[in-house]
Amino acid sequence: MDFPQLANTLYLDNAGSLPVPSPIVLNHTKDLLENIYGNTHSGSLKTSSAIQQTRTRILKHFNTDENYYTIVFTSGATAALKLLAETYNWNSKSYYYQKESHTSVVGISNIVSQTKNMPVEKCCFALEEERIKDLSTKKGMVAVTAQCNFSGKRFDMGWIANEQSKVHVLVDAASFCSTSTFDLQKYPADFLVVSFYKMFGFPTGIGALLIKNTAADMLSKSYFGGGTVQSIGVEPLYYSQKTRLYEKMEDG
Ligand SMILES: Cc1ncc(COP(=O)(O)O)c(C=O)c1O
Repeated sequence: MDFPQLANTLYLDNAGSLPVPSPIVLNHTKDLLENIYGNTHSGSLKTSSAIQQTRTRILKHFNTDENYYTIVFTSGATAALKLLAETYNWNSKSYYYQKESHTSVVGISNIVSQTKNMPVEKCCFALEEERIKDLSTKKGMVAVTAQCNFSGKRFDMGWIANEQSKVHVLVDAASFCSTSTFDLQKYPADFLVVSFYKMFGFPTGIGALLIKNTAADMLSKSYFGGGTVQSIGVEPLYYSQKTRLYEKMEDG
């Protein structure tokens, strides 16, 4: 039985998180006990190749590949949204988000307002679903939710295909992906956030920000730490960051 903890129990929260499946826990534990994985940033061949394979498989799952998208691992969908908000170039741009958004999407407005040093109501706008589709001439980012985590309602993503659009499209697919697959070829969002514990139930603490490669030049990051650093000196302060997008974004 994959879910022994569900014996004699009715579980109604699959959109929030899948219960922990025993085969994943058992295989994961076996793998850790039988193999030696070095630190992710220390050049361990086994670790690097496992991570590379995982990146490729995840992109395939979303019907794309590394020619079009880059995957940045984070600790969850919220961390992915925060990372995006902190690195996006908000200069002369606004933030639009769907009214039925998760708190983590709404929270971006504080970062935008502080970065632009502007009252939130002048640069961040909560909109009804119908208005979201008409923003293609606006400069900035529009955040939509593929599935509302509160009502379970799914929203039309068909309009995302518009390549002429000026506005960058962020899709929060955290809840949607727990029971469906988001197709990035069909709906080529500029940014997509997901949370893997909602898809697999175990382990927690891992999610991702998927970045369309053509939107990557909108992001720049000032913090550096751990594996993102290529070289460093402290007197005088000098550092260089690694060059690949995911290497720059995945601190620690
Ligand atoms: C639609 C949606 N977005 C974002 C999140 C936040 O995900 P995480 O727990 O990975 O930060 C959730 C979690 O329930 C969600 O349902």
